[in-house]
Amino acid sequence: MDPARLYTNQIYTVSHTMGLRFIQRKIKDHGRLTMRKLSLYIATSLDGYIARQNESLDWLLNQRADDNGYTAFYDTIDTILLGRRTYQWILRNVHSEFPYQGKNCYVFSRTLKGQTANVQFVNQDIVTLTASLKKKPGKGIWIVGGGEVLSPLLRENLVDDLIIQIAPVIIGQGIRLFNPGPYEMALDLVKVTQYNQFVELQYQRK
Ligand SMILES: NC(=O)c1ccc[n+]([C@@H]2O[C@H](COP(=O)([O-])OP(=O)(O)OC[C@H]3O[C@@H](n4cnc5c(N)ncnc54)[C@H](OP(=O)(O)O)[C@@H]3O)[C@@H](O)[C@H]2O)c1
Repeated sequence: MDPARLYTNQIYTVSHTMGLRFIQRKIKDHGRLTMRKLSLYIATSLDGYIARQNESLDWLLNQRADDNGYTAFYDTIDTILLGRRTYQWILRNVHSEFPYQGKNCYVFSRTLKGQTANVQFVNQDIVTLTASLKKKPGKGIWIVGGGEVLSPLLRENLVDDLIIQIAPVIIGQGIRLFNPGPYEMALDLVKVTQYNQFVELQYQRK
C-alpha cells in the first residue's frame, strides 16, 4: 500500500476509534444524567471506622455539635437505604422522633420483615433493588450505611458520590467503613471542606 493511503487509513482508524469512544462516553454520561444519584454520606474516624466494635459512636457524638452541611445534603435526597444494624442503632439511641420521617426508607434485613410507619424492610438483593430505585424518578438516594450493606453497592459500581466527613480521632479498631474485598473504584476528588475540626472529602465516581 502506498504511504499516503496507509496514512489516510491510519487517520481513519484513529478517528473512528476516538469517535466510538466519544459516543460511548456520551451514552454513559446520558445514563448517569437520567438516573438518580446514589450518595454515600457518612462520618468516619481518621483510621476509617464508622463505629466501635460495640457500635458506640461516642468518639463522634462527643465532638459533633454543628450542622456540618447536613441540612443542605438532606434536602437533595428523598430515599434512604440502611442496614438493619444501623437502623436498630438509631432506634436505640435517637429518643426523639424517627430522624428520617417523610423520606422513603428501606432497611436491608434477612431477619426483619414488613414495614413500620417509617421504614420498609427489604430482603431483596441489595444490588437489584438499588439499581431499580436509581431508575425511578425522584431526588437523590442516600446510603446511610453501615459498611456491610455498602460493600455490594461499591462492588457493583452503583455509588455515584462519596461524601466522607473525617472526625479528628483515631479509635484503633471497630466497624469498618470499607470492608476488605475484591473491588476497586477510581474517583475524582471534587471538593474539600473544613467544618471546624472535621474535614469533608467529596468524591465522584469516574
Ligand atoms: N459513622 C457514621 O456516620 C455511621 C453511619 C452509618 C452506620 N454507622 C454505624 O455502623 C454500625 C452498623 O454497621 P454494620 O456494617 O455493622 O451493619 P449494617 O450494614 O448497618 O447492617 C448489617 C445488616 O444488614 C442486613 N444485610 C446485610 N446484607 C444484606 C443483604 N444482602 N440482604 C439483606 N439484608 C442484608 C443484615 O441484617 P439481618 O441481620 O437482619 O439479616 C445485616 O446484619 C452501627 O453501629 C451504626 O451506628 C455509623
